[in-house]
Amino acid sequence: MDKLKIVGNGPLNGEIRISGAKNATLPIMCAALLTDDTLALSNVPMLKDVKTTIEVLEKMGADVQSNQQDKVDICCASIHDLAVSYDLVKTMRASILILGPTLAKFGECQISLPGGCTIGSRPVDQHIKGLIAMGAEVNVEHGYIKAKAKRLKGAHIIMDMVTVTGTENLLMAATLAEGVTILENAAKEPEVVDLANCLVAMGARIEGIGTGVLKIYGVDKLHGAEYSILADRIETGTFLCAVAMTKGKVILKNAHPESMQFVLDKLLEAGALIETGKDWILIEMKDRPKPVDIRTLPYPGFPTDMQAQFMTMNVIADGSSKIVETIFENRFMHVPELNRMGANIEVEGNTAFVKGVERLSGAKVMATDLRASASLVIAGLVADGITYVERIYHLDRGYEKIEEKLGNVGANIERITVSS
Ligand code: EPU
Repeated sequence: MDKLKIVGNGPLNGEIRISGAKNATLPIMCAALLTDDTLALSNVPMLKDVKTTIEVLEKMGADVQSNQQDKVDICCASIHDLAVSYDLVKTMRASILILGPTLAKFGECQISLPGGCTIGSRPVDQHIKGLIAMGAEVNVEHGYIKAKAKRLKGAHIIMDMVTVTGTENLLMAATLAEGVTILENAAKEPEVVDLANCLVAMGARIEGIGTGVLKIYGVDKLHGAEYSILADRIETGTFLCAVAMTKGKVILKNAHPESMQFVLDKLLEAGALIETGKDWILIEMKDRPKPVDIRTLPYPGFPTDMQAQFMTMNVIADGSSKIVETIFENRFMHVPELNRMGANIEVEGNTAFVKGVERLSGAKVMATDLRASASLVIAGLVADGITYVERIYHLDRGYEKIEEKLGNVGANIERITVSS
């Protein structure tokens, strides 16, 4: 399995181009199941999870053409297999996003239950509850969700908690349902908004986009569209933390500052100088970061997907901070690894107490979660000596060419391919 070798060095300087958002791309690719026409996507990040989604769709019978750079065309006119096996779902939980659109378009879907993962138990009960409310017959047996519905019917669904993929699954299902669906307590994440905008481009009728109440008027048919994916706010935030920690100056192009106001505010609080335009962010950091307290919340609150990176910035900050994780029950996997690099972090329940230290020291580290892995990479950039981030399989699921992008702005970082 590949690893990254990072030699801590000076500030990052220059320009980074941000990729399309992983968590918008995955549901939007699944939305292609809702039409027989082609969905032509651009600004697609070529990530492991995107390739897995292509594999899932192709196995179902979709015709997927990609230029291997940032364009993917998907045509689902010849779908013949309405089942997604455990082998595919276990490598990528987001495969659950196949359920809503497949059931709505083809009247049937069988998909493996995703099960828990390292960051938490992550049930999908809200997805199932919503589909049942829309008239589906759903059985969960032998580890599989088996859902059937001649045609889904509009329903008034109040979700028990804010769930991103839960909202996305039900939103996609509702576009082809008979009648009106109201989704209350819907997720407002920019990636949900991007999916909704793409569905509208495909002919869906949706009101309340970006709010907690979505009203969907079901239509008989959706059509193809061309759609460019939103910029990745988590990739952007990760690089912003890296620049702040190395006291660098970098302009991030093809970004979307509007979707990450909370994160930008927290960086300002940490002492960064920030300028933004419609699609760029310039960050400069002159001093050691100031500590910032964080509490993760659904959008527009502070994103759980940025918690590990901000904790890493707090680790070298001038003072103490407190980080509360409210979304996932086990999302502090980076803590023991950061402590091995010299950090001073104590965890009590869902709260981490961080005492800033002046220096970190390079070590061999690894994490079994995407964002935790990213936090170890940025820790390595400021650590004395060499850091090896092992098992970067997780990183490759969510960051496109991370070593190339960081290398281009001055990081001493190299991928070491280890033959297994
Ligand atoms: N939940 C339930 N029941 C459900 C659905 C969710 O109890 O039916 C709980 C979860 O266990 C969790 C909370 O609700 O405690 C929120 O989970 P959510 O469903 O919003 O998470 P998700 O949709 O599975 C997406 C992202 C995650 C991101 C979270 C939170 C995708 C593909 N994944 O996951 O991204 O952390 O929303 O914003 O969109 C990542 O990119 O590294 C990543 C993990």
